[in-house]
Amino acid sequence: MPVERTLSIIKPDATRRNLTGRINARFEAAGLRLVAQKRLSLTRAAAEQFYRVHAGRPFFAPLCAFMSSGPVVVQVLEGEDAIARNRAIMGATDPAKAEKGTIRADFAESIEANSAHGSDSPETAAQEIAFFFSALEIVG
Ligand code: CDP
Ligand code: MG
Repeated sequence: MPVERTLSIIKPDATRRNLTGRINARFEAAGLRLVAQKRLSLTRAAAEQFYRVHAGRPFFAPLCAFMSSGPVVVQVLEGEDAIARNRAIMGATDPAKAEKGTIRADFAESIEANSAHGSDSPETAAQEIAFFFSALEIVG
């Protein structure tokens, strides 16, 4: 399986509840390496730009308000099959449908405040990593 990189975000509901370390421990236990990481506050405009693929969906405005409501931790995870592996560790978007033992089943507050973001394809991973990180900031 190919070694990939994916963009992960620990969302404001999780940073507020001090869950960064517990979430990162799950990535590391699953063999994903944290090769870049920073904590920042998204402006509303940055959240709208990041989630532009969802512009027009009914959840877009509240999602962008939520994502700019508190600090996030943005990170690059690296490992074999990292994109799918990260999404498996996160679980389904709706925590009520997420498998037991996944980040969203265990930590999410709602379908919106679902604790983590992960890229969904090699193309979006490349775009989303470049949205937050320069090449010099990623140390494999
Ligand atoms: O994050 P994921 O790729 O699993 O789901 P998405 O369909 O790309 O949606 C992006 C984010 O929008 C989700 O993680 C939720 O935070 C939010 N969302 C929502 O609030 N209500 C929905 N019905 C669907 C998504
Ligand atoms: Mg998505």
